[in-house]
Amino acid sequence: MKRVCVITGGGSGMGLAAAKCMPKDKIIVVTGRTMSKLEKAVKELEEAGYEAYAKTCDTSNRQQVRELAEYAAGLGEIKNVINSAGLSPAMAKPEQLIRVNALGTVYINQEFSKRMKEGSVIVDVSSNSAYMIPEFLVSKKTLALADKDEALFLKKVLKLPNMLKGYQAAGLAYGLSKKFVIWYAAKCAFEYGSRGIRVCSLSPGLIATDMGNLEAGEGGSVVGKKFLK
Ligand SMILES: NC(=O)c1ccc[n+]([C@@H]2O[C@H](COP(=O)([O-])OP(=O)(O)OC[C@H]3O[C@@H](n4cnc5c(N)ncnc54)[C@H](OP(=O)(O)O)[C@@H]3O)[C@@H](O)[C@H]2O)c1
Repeated sequence: MKRVCVITGGGSGMGLAAAKCMPKDKIIVVTGRTMSKLEKAVKELEEAGYEAYAKTCDTSNRQQVRELAEYAAGLGEIKNVINSAGLSPAMAKPEQLIRVNALGTVYINQEFSKRMKEGSVIVDVSSNSAYMIPEFLVSKKTLALADKDEALFLKKVLKLPNMLKGYQAAGLAYGLSKKFVIWYAAKCAFEYGSRGIRVCSLSPGLIATDMGNLEAGEGGSVVGKKFLK
């Protein structure tokens, strides 16, 4: 059976760069919301000698994530999931940042782990901005609501960002969403470990992708100075 590597956010940036580091005997599935980007990525991967496929999926939509997992499982054994899909503070408002970066990670880990076997790996991409968020700003109890009560999770996690405005609000929501990714990946590592599925998070610093370049100016102000005073 062929081995499959699924890369969310694989149409650009770090996701596409990661695809190009994969061994060529793996089938690569790149996914994101924009088919034109994915088709371009597939063309690049095919030119580099990969068997690659494009499938659109909004990771903040559980049904679409489920369909993506079914599609990938139909191609072969899912060995790797690199969850690189994400939005940054300059791209979206607080609620969308939490829905895509945090709840998207819940849907990806849950829906894919159902179809993964021993020896497979999930990598959830976080951010070093998660480490700039002081511990007291979010409780583990709130984080744990994400896969029990989404509405309450959103309400609690968005409480502080909603007290701020503009980039400060989005920056804080981004940091919180990525803090969640680190916590959730560790939780899943514990839960799926007994089935031989490894889960880890990765927290890059500022990287010169489209997103990184967009954030280069204001990226340092993830938690507004005024807010911390
Ligand atoms: N670049 C940095 O400096 C930096 C630093 C720390 C962490 N990160 C994290 O690294 C990851 C990759 O970022 P990047 O720098 O490679 O930026 P990027 O090139 O913008 O990649 C992000 C990808 O995610 C996709 N995406 C966005 N929303 C999505 C959704 N709802 N569903 C599915 N796909 C979605 C985008 O495609 P569509 O818009 O077509 O959906 C895009 O291809 C992100 O999680 C980001 O937060 C980046």
